[in-house]
Amino acid sequence: MRELVQVSGPPTELIFGDWYPAMRVGALGAGKTATAMLLGVPLLVGRKKDGKLFAMRDLCPHRGIPLSAGWFDGETVTCKYHGWRFEPCSGQCREIPSLTSHETLDPTKIFAGAFPCEERDGYAWVYIPEPGSGRVVGELPAVPEVPKFSARFRTAHLTAELPCNVDHGIIGLMDPAHGPFVHQAWWWRSRASIHEKEKHFEPLNDDEHKGRNAGFRMSSHAPSANSAPYKLLGVYGEPITTTIDFVLPNRRYETIRAGEKWFASLTTVTPVTASTCRIDVCAAWNVFYWVPFVTPIATFFGARFVRQDQQTMVEQAEGLRFNPGLMLIDDADKPAKWYFALKQARLTGTGEHPLSGPVTLHWRS
Ligand code: FES
Ligand SMILES: [Fe+2]
Repeated sequence: MRELVQVSGPPTELIFGDWYPAMRVGALGAGKTATAMLLGVPLLVGRKKDGKLFAMRDLCPHRGIPLSAGWFDGETVTCKYHGWRFEPCSGQCREIPSLTSHETLDPTKIFAGAFPCEERDGYAWVYIPEPGSGRVVGELPAVPEVPKFSARFRTAHLTAELPCNVDHGIIGLMDPAHGPFVHQAWWWRSRASIHEKEKHFEPLNDDEHKGRNAGFRMSSHAPSANSAPYKLLGVYGEPITTTIDFVLPNRRYETIRAGEKWFASLTTVTPVTASTCRIDVCAAWNVFYWVPFVTPIATFFGARFVRQDQQTMVEQAEGLRFNPGLMLIDDADKPAKWYFALKQARLTGTGEHPLSGPVTLHWRS
């Protein structure tokens, strides 16, 4: 592999007011903390003694030193500079050591930044509100997770940092035309197997939440005949159905079902900053449940797949540095156009959906 200059491309506008996966926390024990960044917000993620996760803005409200420079005793976070002590789930200040009985300042009226934080599929999901909107109160949308269709299942996950903004990460994810070039491999598919495809899409409106998590579905269909993993699934002799949903701000759900057997994944492309992002793939399945080693094998092949995308986006970032004009073509880039339209509708609050009904697209891949 040739040496690549690591650069990041231009920034983009971000969607605040939603849940994003901050980091893996399966191995984060009680009383431990770690740092992460979401949408340019530095985070101190930790687990209290009772197992509850928290995510604080990693900045002391007194003078701005990172709280991660201080101490966590399993209950409260103490700032390294002047020892202010905070309850990390609410951010409430519990103690200001310098105060004397002559002063009337009530420390509990002071809050460090703290965000709603929930554990799903081994990730800390953090709700990042609009900047300057104050403490998050009221009912929040459901925390995203990988769909599961049986009590017993296996899981695997992958992550890769991408040096481009979240839009390039997302449209790269929904782009059907790069497969035969970026992902060519003997066990997957070759360039020679490119053929014309017809795919059916329908809008997902999320009327319940005024379109906040609107998106589109690639409707249930028999999977591409030239995809080896799907051939493997076919051994069960049941009809296979798959759906791929994209929903705002950054989620791609894929489900494959054949009788009792299923495979599902949630892939997210999360803005780390306005110009960089991270892709996370989390999968669950009960297919081949009885086969040992299936998780390491799936992880190996999945990791190779994600690395190919990552490598391509590292190269793309080199080019994007020069701010070239870009193109989106029909029909292969149609889903990317829908993504941009959905994002604008969410940012401006128009609630408009680019699809008024089912649409059929054609491309060769
Ligand atoms: S900067 Fe944190 S207590 Fe002063
Ligand atoms: Fe890809």
